[in-house]
Amino acid sequence: MAGAAGLAGAEGYLPDNRSLASLEAAASCCHGCTLYKNASQTVFGHGQPDAPLMLVGEQPGDREDIEGLPFVGPAGRLLARALDDAGIDPDLTYQTNAVKHFKFTRKNGKRRIHQKPSRTEVVACRPWLIAEIDALQPELIVLLGATAAQAVLGPAFRVSAHRGELLQLPDGLGVRADPTPQLVATVHPSAVLRDRTDREKAFASFVDDLRSARSGLSTG
Ligand code: URA
Ligand code: SF4
Repeated sequence: MAGAAGLAGAEGYLPDNRSLASLEAAASCCHGCTLYKNASQTVFGHGQPDAPLMLVGEQPGDREDIEGLPFVGPAGRLLARALDDAGIDPDLTYQTNAVKHFKFTRKNGKRRIHQKPSRTEVVACRPWLIAEIDALQPELIVLLGATAAQAVLGPAFRVSAHRGELLQLPDGLGVRADPTPQLVATVHPSAVLRDRTDREKAFASFVDDLRSARSGLSTG
């Protein structure tokens, strides 16, 4: 269970029953790292329990923390548009995050500003992600941005060097899902939103990567 430093990780909070519903219930009480302290609630994954496509973001944002659902804020709206353009039915997706609590600082003591989770926090939270993969058994996982990609592929992985490629899940993560899902890494929708040079082009490349992911699905 969690040690005094609060960084023992999520492993000790995993329930015996590994259905998505019981995982979600157990995650709501997770103290596997310190991020639960300031966030409003655990934001677990959401979607069809038989979805062939799992989408993994970084962590919930301000809206997600309030509503308790992933991808309901501005990045989620951009993601929904990109999925639509790529011809991916959102009902074929299960959407989650590498880290399940919102990490932020307060600007002038008020507005909450997103902070990138540390590697330690990503690793602490990873048992939930692995358990979600095992429960869902998706055909393919799309890793949105460096945090999600490095959670699964290791800290040396560079999205810019491999985006859109069909990749294999590495051994040693403890994923038991059989057959093992394939992976595609791409940018995070927030990065597209922040792109000041050519947002249209950034969006089009994001859609292209999602199309590559779609072509890796047997349901096409
Ligand atoms: N960004 C993410 O990475 N995940 C969300 O759920 C929302 C925004
Ligand atoms: Fe647990 Fe993850 Fe939340 Fe940390 S971020 S408390 S590991 S659910």
